[in-house]
Amino acid sequence: MSEPSDPLSRLRRADKAHLWHPFTQMQEWVDGDPVVIASAERELLIDTEGNRYVDGASSLWCNLHGHRRPEIDEAIRSQLGRVAHSTLLGLASAPSIELAERLAAIAPGELTRVFYSDSGATAVEVALKMAFQYWRQCERPRPDKTKFVCLDLAYHGDTLGAVSVGGIDLFHSIYRPLLFETIRAPSPYCYRCPLREDPATCGMACAAAMEAILAARADEVAAVILEPLVQGAGGMITHPDGYLRRVADACRAHDVLLICDEVATGFGRTGRMFACEHEGVRPDLMCLAKGISGGYLPLAATLATEAIYEAFLGRHSEGRTFFHGHTYTGNALACAAGVASLDVFEKDGVLERIGELEAALAEALAPLAAMPHVGQVRRRGLMVGIELVADSSTREPYPPEQRRGCSVCLAARKHGVWIRPLGDVVVLMPPYCIGDESLARLVEGTGAAISEVTDA
Ligand SMILES: Cc1ncc(COP(=O)(O)O)c(C=O)c1O
Repeated sequence: MSEPSDPLSRLRRADKAHLWHPFTQMQEWVDGDPVVIASAERELLIDTEGNRYVDGASSLWCNLHGHRRPEIDEAIRSQLGRVAHSTLLGLASAPSIELAERLAAIAPGELTRVFYSDSGATAVEVALKMAFQYWRQCERPRPDKTKFVCLDLAYHGDTLGAVSVGGIDLFHSIYRPLLFETIRAPSPYCYRCPLREDPATCGMACAAAMEAILAARADEVAAVILEPLVQGAGGMITHPDGYLRRVADACRAHDVLLICDEVATGFGRTGRMFACEHEGVRPDLMCLAKGISGGYLPLAATLATEAIYEAFLGRHSEGRTFFHGHTYTGNALACAAGVASLDVFEKDGVLERIGELEAALAEALAPLAAMPHVGQVRRRGLMVGIELVADSSTREPYPPEQRRGCSVCLAARKHGVWIRPLGDVVVLMPPYCIGDESLARLVEGTGAAISEVTDA
């Protein structure tokens, strides 16, 4: 029998023949029929058959103002009429300058310097290398400060430096022989406290553990790196209030740099422009990606303080230069999209809108928290994790091989909802333009999918 030759069948066949999808067991992928996205409209993804799905994961946490946002489309088109890309190695470009100026103006603290790259992982690599090099060439060099403190269950991307400071065994353990050594602090994961403490009475033992590490080992520590307020890929782990502040204070007290990875939390996701702002924290280095271009094009930035930047100044022969760069660093189309996205924040009062959405989302989620196999609904701003459990009274997880989180996301498709799990944590992260109807569809469709999968 000959293979069907309609356009969708042909695309699916070619996908299975040639693509290797990220974070995907391809042996299982080829047994399915992938949804092929053909277009999008605001918060909706539309497949080749015309089915519409609420983009409940903001296209992997990067889309901010919706798809085909006219102002961003137009900014890219208009930049395309001038130049799509020119290098930042030896040349400057207007959109990269304008975006850097805008980022420095809204960043917390004294983050005046913007170093571009193209993904969250590269923004993290840049921050790690800057922190390491800073201690070798700052005014009073401390070359023994070479180590990084990171959190268990941290996720900072998939390049080897970022994996070294990551802490998700499923993704990272196989690469251990390739990684540099780090110092690990317990994750502030109150629902499953790694220190077996009671959050009501522990006085934040996880913060005390971090303080103890820094008190004991500051002489060898270059920096602490963490995801402020929410550890995203670790399972939408929302940190207790005040944790970030305590870590930042301990860093200051012990002369250790603080790197805040705002790749997921930045650009309004937690309700403020940057998560650090909730606790008045001023990091030494901040990593941005995902939403920086409004979710349109690959772009990232590592922001540094003037003090860090100055440690890299000198004559070429002094060897203080930061020898790092990528071909597409500061790409003009992506930077133009980034500027247009920041304009939308201002013009539409997007941060206020996020506040209203938070309230609507909290209300809509309340019934899900009461479902028998929902252990906890965690939310910070518009970042939501719904942790599924076999038994909510004992918090016993489902056996991982049952892949309930994955089944929920598959079932949600039938309700017109596109979401992705992190193990048995179902993630919701809607774009900021989502309307009432789509928000209801997202939460109710997810709830319906959870009952179909967990009542079975
Ligand atoms: C906090 C954090 N850092 C870094 C990354 C890596 O970003 P990218 O996938 O753009 O490399 C991610 C991706 O999810 C992230 O959540």
